[in-house]
Amino acid sequence: MNAISETKILTIDIGGSHVKATILNQAGSLVMDYKKMNTPRPATPLNIIATIKELVSAFPEYDKVAVGFPGYVRDGVVYTAPNLGNEFWKQIDLNKELGAVLGKPVQVVNDADLQGLGVASGKGLEMVITLGTGFGTALLKDGKLLPHLELSHHPVTKRKNYDEYIGEKAFKDIGEDRWNERMKRVLTILKTVFNYDRLYISGGNADELKFKLDDNITVVTNKDGIKGGARLWQ
Ligand code: BGC
Repeated sequence: MNAISETKILTIDIGGSHVKATILNQAGSLVMDYKKMNTPRPATPLNIIATIKELVSAFPEYDKVAVGFPGYVRDGVVYTAPNLGNEFWKQIDLNKELGAVLGKPVQVVNDADLQGLGVASGKGLEMVITLGTGFGTALLKDGKLLPHLELSHHPVTKRKNYDEYIGEKAFKDIGEDRWNERMKRVLTILKTVFNYDRLYISGGNADELKFKLDDNITVVTNKDGIKGGARLWQ
């Protein structure tokens, strides 16, 4: 085995309820099971970084770090984090701060973008949406990420943005049937607005979709998206 194929990537998913981490090989396969801890509250940069440090303290060796973050991230700098607390996350250079604590090169991107890199086939215009605490979106052209849009914060009704309309809280408040009606409406909007070749739906609530999806829509699991951590470093 040469040095490149031995490269190990610590992949971290920071979520609204859990912080999860595993180690991938260069091909994107898991070399250990996922470990998780509750997302600390308040979810300040210091607390999140301390949680990650503790979570990975007994992990085997790794060379690089890939992080999916639930907010707007550009060049490793976090601008917003709606489900963690925007007030704590104003221009936080997480590449640098986490890199200093872990002692390894770190790349932080939006969580849906990381999933997108993991599931997209690399052909044509592909869109990935994640149905979890918030509504994540990623767009890729021929396998390359396009600039991230915080579509979740675009209004979809007079009073609600996408997070409020179809996020986890809405699912719990209105129940499965009404949530499915809302999802039908959202998928019709996305189809018209983006004209994707293929749409992937992932996230904890993807399993709750109870209507027939178009042929160019594929439901995937969060696990399918994990290899995004390895792709980020390719
Ligand atoms: C955030 C997105 C994120 C999504 C899923 C939304 O609230 O605005 O940046 O990708 O939740 O975590």
